[in-house]
Amino acid sequence: MSNGWPESAAAWIDGIGERGDFGREFVLDAPMMERISGRSFELALDVGCGEGRFCRMLREKGIRTVGIDPTEALIAQARHRDPEGDYRIGRAEDLQLPDGAFDLVVTYLSLIDIPDLPAAIAEMVRVLKPGGTLLIANLNSFSTAGLPQGWQRGADGETRFHIDNYLEERAIWFTWRGVGIRNWHRPLSTYMGLLLKSGLLLKYFAEPAPSVANSPEAEEYRRVPYFHIMEWQKPAA
Ligand SMILES: C[S@@+](CC[C@H](N)C(=O)[O-])C[C@H]1O[C@@H](n2cnc3c(N)ncnc32)[C@H](O)[C@@H]1O
Repeated sequence: MSNGWPESAAAWIDGIGERGDFGREFVLDAPMMERISGRSFELALDVGCGEGRFCRMLREKGIRTVGIDPTEALIAQARHRDPEGDYRIGRAEDLQLPDGAFDLVVTYLSLIDIPDLPAAIAEMVRVLKPGGTLLIANLNSFSTAGLPQGWQRGADGETRFHIDNYLEERAIWFTWRGVGIRNWHRPLSTYMGLLLKSGLLLKYFAEPAPSVANSPEAEEYRRVPYFHIMEWQKPAA
């Protein structure tokens, strides 16, 4: 059964544009790049790179990158937008890459798309160099517990974000600007448990606020901070 991405690729490319949607452009990009700037990373892997936006941002900083993604049309667009870049069709759960090859592994809003999370985390850890960094931008689990219809108007006329069945891991079909895809809701403890069990050390955690004020989107993202950023380190050998 399709995860929706092949059918949604064109709408995704159109919707995200070159600059990214509000959450990427005004919430996540700056704090993600802050974790990277000035740290001498040489070779990065972007797992679930989509049409390659974050790879291009890393490459502008002089970091060599490999982007992997299973959606052929997105990889084709990544290659089109960045002909010199290295973009490969592949799945997080089975990285066809050598052990210890990367000093930085990034997943930018792709963990929620990956069906077999334990296998994906094991693979990301495997390809990291000892001492290397795993940088994650993910949807907060309370926000995925609200998908697909978190914002609802109550009987009092007020609009609030509703969550339910938080502890129940499940697939959710999510639609956004013509994109219809399968995401996975998992409680935060699932992510943290797997990352801790893999031996990584947590170095940074943030729930970034929008960098702009006075817009309806900024208000929404302040009321419900959809994202977190985590940085984990693979212990030095
Ligand atoms: C929300 S998009 C994020 C794309 C990109 N990182 C960005 O921020 O623009 C999620 C991506 O995960 C990819 N994906 C789905 N299943 C995957 C898997 N098993 N392994 C790796 N990536 C996967 C999708 O093809 C899609 O490109």
